[in-house]
Amino acid sequence: MSVAFNLNGKAVTAQAEADTPLLWVIRDELGMTGTKFGCGMALCGACTVHLDGQPVRSCQTPVSAVSGRKVATVESLSGTANTHPLQVAWIKHDVPQCGYCQSGQLMSAAALLAANRNPSDADIDNAMSGNICRCGTYPRVRAAIKDAAASMRKA
Ligand code: FES
Ligand code: FES
Repeated sequence: MSVAFNLNGKAVTAQAEADTPLLWVIRDELGMTGTKFGCGMALCGACTVHLDGQPVRSCQTPVSAVSGRKVATVESLSGTANTHPLQVAWIKHDVPQCGYCQSGQLMSAAALLAANRNPSDADIDNAMSGNICRCGTYPRVRAAIKDAAASMRKA
């Protein structure tokens, strides 16, 4: 089938079976390879993207479900410029270790800060609980989210 949707602000059309995971379409067909495949079972969060502003697991989202909707990947934060407050904070706190989970971490964090510019520790833990990091970068992720939230409140 043909599925038309908005990807990172641009109209796109994908040719795929209705039940093809969105993750395959955005990586293999549309070339947005910042989103990673981890477990394929909605357990790790590596594949997190936004669907109409809400974080979803693209490995378990059939492409047919995004027809006519807005999808945003990590590339939407600021392209290659790394100027989004979260990216600035990620660099400052040297957050990534192997880096594999970090695209998903950033997209969950971006959805949190879009809704809440002053998240508590519990808010952060709740929003980030589905993003698994085998390297254990959780303390740096939390510190960077707080830093980014503070700079977004000042902006
Ligand atoms: S790859 Fe989608 S949640 Fe793990
Ligand atoms: S930085 Fe390695 S899995 Fe998170």
